Amino acid sequence: MAELLYGAPVAEAVYAELADRLAGLPYTPSLHVIRVGEDPASLAYVRLKARRARRLGLRSTVHALPETAEEAELLGLIEALNADPEVDGILVQLPLPAHIATAHVLEAIAPEKDVDGFHPLNVGRLWSRGPGVGLDPCTPAGIMRLLAHYRVPVAGRRAVVVGRSNIVGKPMAAMLLAADATVAVAHSRTRDLAALTREAELLVSAVGRPGYLRPAMVRPGAVVVDVGITRVGERLLGDADPGVAEVASRLTPVPGGVGPMTVAMLLWNTVRAAERRRG
Ligand code: GUN
Repeated sequence: MAELLYGAPVAEAVYAELADRLAGLPYTPSLHVIRVGEDPASLAYVRLKARRARRLGLRSTVHALPETAEEAELLGLIEALNADPEVDGILVQLPLPAHIATAHVLEAIAPEKDVDGFHPLNVGRLWSRGPGVGLDPCTPAGIMRLLAHYRVPVAGRRAVVVGRSNIVGKPMAAMLLAADATVAVAHSRTRDLAALTREAELLVSAVGRPGYLRPAMVRPGAVVVDVGITRVGERLLGDADPGVAEVASRLTPVPGGVGPMTVAMLLWNTVRAAERRRG
């Protein structure tokens, strides 16, 4: 049976480190979360982010715009937050309604306040100079922290990332590459996916289709990071079929694995953004 790699103790270590750093600051960093529309998952995530920020002792504000809001209105709000010296972190919850161009919005956020790490300047810094130079995307940064905490070897390992999103797959590949893994990125057009995933000593699945990762797709003894979180009725299900736990040596559970790390790293980015910008 695979050892389960839980996120909570790692997230708690991040929060403890942040509490120490906050105690030494002469100001209280602030996080501004923007949500457009009423997507239930986005509502829940935004509420969670704001609550955890306050619990840590940050200031946090949620800006809720209606589903019908124009792109210009959203851009105007971002401009005002960019210009406000009291604002340290800005996050626009994705996905946005179809009539708004996500790229315009992400590129409008001041890179030094871009706590999601989705601005092209931060993306470029991650790929060209590695993590820790700009602000890095929270979910893959949390996964790297989780792997380090549980002493999962990365350097020299064959890593396969399934999923090529800007939120998880691509930045995950950049971070694993910077950590000296040999990285392949698989996606919906990959031929014979199972042959590739069976090569992986470290397998990161960010697909969002419950149970698609079958035991036969996993190399015996592999470390599997399950980033899929899909709500099915009352339950949260990962990408990994339950049988994967019989094949993998270590596995992040859903819920309780990667999930807690994402918010922890968002707050980490917020404190870091504040420290950098305010000197
Ligand atoms: N939607 C799903 N994941 C994320 C994330 O990490 N950040 C934002 N802004 N939206 C998301």
